[in-house]
Amino acid sequence: MKKEFYLTTPLYYVNDEPHIGHAYTTILADVLTRYHRLFGEDVHFLTGTDEHGQKVADASRELGRSPQEHCDFTSKRYKEVWEKLDISYDDFIRTTEDRHKKVVFDIINNIYDKGDIYQKEYEGWYSVSEERFFTEKDLIDGKDPIGNRPVEKIKETNYFFKMSKYQDWLIEYYEKNHDAVLPEFRLNEVLGFLRQPLGDLCISRPKSRLKWGIPIPWDEDYVIYVWFDALINYYSATISPPEGTSPSWPCNYHLIGKDILTTHAVYWPIMLHAAGFELPKHILAHGWWLAKDDVKMSKTTGNVIKPLDLVEPYGADTFRYVLMREMVIGQDAAFSEKNFIRRVNSDLANDLGNLVNRLTKLLVQYFDGVVPDVPVDDENEIISLAGRTAVEVRKKIESLQMHSTIEEIMQFVRAINRYVTVAEPWKTAKTDLDTAGETLAVALEGIRIATVLLSPVMPSKTLELLRRINAPLNDNIVWQDTAWSDVLSGRTVIHGDAIFPRVTLPKTSEKIEKPAPEKKKPAKTPEDGIITYDQFKQVDLRTATILEAEAVPDTDKLLRLQVDIGSEKRQIVAGIAQHYSPEELIGRTIIVVANLQPAKIRGVKSQGMLLAVQDDKNLRLLTPDDEVKPGRRIS
Ligand code: MSP
Repeated sequence: MKKEFYLTTPLYYVNDEPHIGHAYTTILADVLTRYHRLFGEDVHFLTGTDEHGQKVADASRELGRSPQEHCDFTSKRYKEVWEKLDISYDDFIRTTEDRHKKVVFDIINNIYDKGDIYQKEYEGWYSVSEERFFTEKDLIDGKDPIGNRPVEKIKETNYFFKMSKYQDWLIEYYEKNHDAVLPEFRLNEVLGFLRQPLGDLCISRPKSRLKWGIPIPWDEDYVIYVWFDALINYYSATISPPEGTSPSWPCNYHLIGKDILTTHAVYWPIMLHAAGFELPKHILAHGWWLAKDDVKMSKTTGNVIKPLDLVEPYGADTFRYVLMREMVIGQDAAFSEKNFIRRVNSDLANDLGNLVNRLTKLLVQYFDGVVPDVPVDDENEIISLAGRTAVEVRKKIESLQMHSTIEEIMQFVRAINRYVTVAEPWKTAKTDLDTAGETLAVALEGIRIATVLLSPVMPSKTLELLRRINAPLNDNIVWQDTAWSDVLSGRTVIHGDAIFPRVTLPKTSEKIEKPAPEKKKPAKTPEDGIITYDQFKQVDLRTATILEAEAVPDTDKLLRLQVDIGSEKRQIVAGIAQHYSPEELIGRTIIVVANLQPAKIRGVKSQGMLLAVQDDKNLRLLTPDDEVKPGRRIS
């Protein structure tokens, strides 16, 4: 049997309503699923809810429901939101289901029989919010080091899983499998954690303290620790009864947020190994969506963004598009509605929507809406760019570069825009109808391909667009549909309302937000304007490679650059748009100040500054005079 391409989201706790963070991971999984389906793969996408443990027990008590009633209610809520976001999961597992509990019993019994679970009395600081013990030295200011919440001292007898026994094995495994945890800097974090002494994991809770859990099969006084139970879902959901085999295991991608890296990259592989199963191929940890001013979203601060608050006014597809376009996987991103609106207007309303509108209008005006013959073997820049774009999109999705996949497609859309602007079909139509017809046919075929390439990101809007241009639609869109063809020749398009209407900006526009000026320190230098060598050394100048460049919407001078500075990727906003086009910058090595305090320029975060020199009206970037890798210090 052909192995399925299997990917998962975390199982979301049912003590909380779905928020933008949950939506992001789930949309990312859905978009990856849809791309892999487009590539012709057999994909299995699992999501679900994590329903046991103290938090759920407490939340249900507060609401006066039984834990099971509460789980049924919130789990359904997740399903409703996923439906509104067009999430095409294949399976939704709930940890209170029998199919899950059965496999949890099998696995815990298996590990117990091998002698890797033992009982001992333990005293430690217990955090209800993290549902785990901390040692005295873990605590920060007497509070739990993760959530900064109160802890209580608890002494009790529990069952422990011998994680420490597998520490060296796991280090060796990660040293040999560099792509097991992605992005690679997260693997380094895991290795750093693993090089400290690794304690055994407390995997039980006495029923006297917590009843809401799966019982320890051999001891009725205990339930299983919620993480030990929940992680097993990734395996339990794939078991097909009655044979008990899994067509999907091992998993290709566990998609998670960076907050749950240790449980997934340390506990879970050790549990699987101890039980004799293969490890997942990759664990991908993405960053966090932060609220305004880069602060964490939390219920207490009241700054949590709920997906439906944005889906209702702007539509599910635009929400999916912006979330995928704005976050560089692995890094944090700040969410603001103003940036959301800017992105929708610049990419979807202007670049894509207007283009479709212009083309269908001209086709109706000069060709009764009928698409002239699409050339298929001409030497045309748009035809060759279409082929290159499809190849790049596939490569980028396979290496999980979601935001740059979208940018690749949008650069193609912008190239079609330029092609039409230069060819001026509205003028040539008056003197040379054949030439005008060819321009429109080429541009429309380009749009068809760009739309197919965007379909995993915006499944319903792209379908609407394909119907508008009357592209033949089979049961499913397939990868072959990204190839240049003349399928549109002779078909009649519809010219209608804007497919991506402009959305309005709130009245106040963002100003340059600079960090508060630092208090002037007394000069340590002997003369004004002279700095010491030590002072110069404090400036971290480094080489950086430009990975992406694009105009900052609604500005003339600003470009937003994504640069590789060796150790990490950074975003830099630079006032060079009047001297360089985004295309000519990509791939260049420049010099940046890497330790400059981040600032917001027109609402866009800038994490550094590039070096350039102004010569009369010309501005030129400083670059090394030969090839140099990114991240090299300038000395
Ligand atoms: N139940 C556990 C996971 C068990 S998996 C076997 C859990 N649940 S959770 O509901 O608290 O959140 C899970 C995930 O939501 C995070 O890992 C992350 O994927 C996502 N996010 C929650 N808040 C987030 C942001 N603010 N930003 C991005 N994603 C974050 O942990």
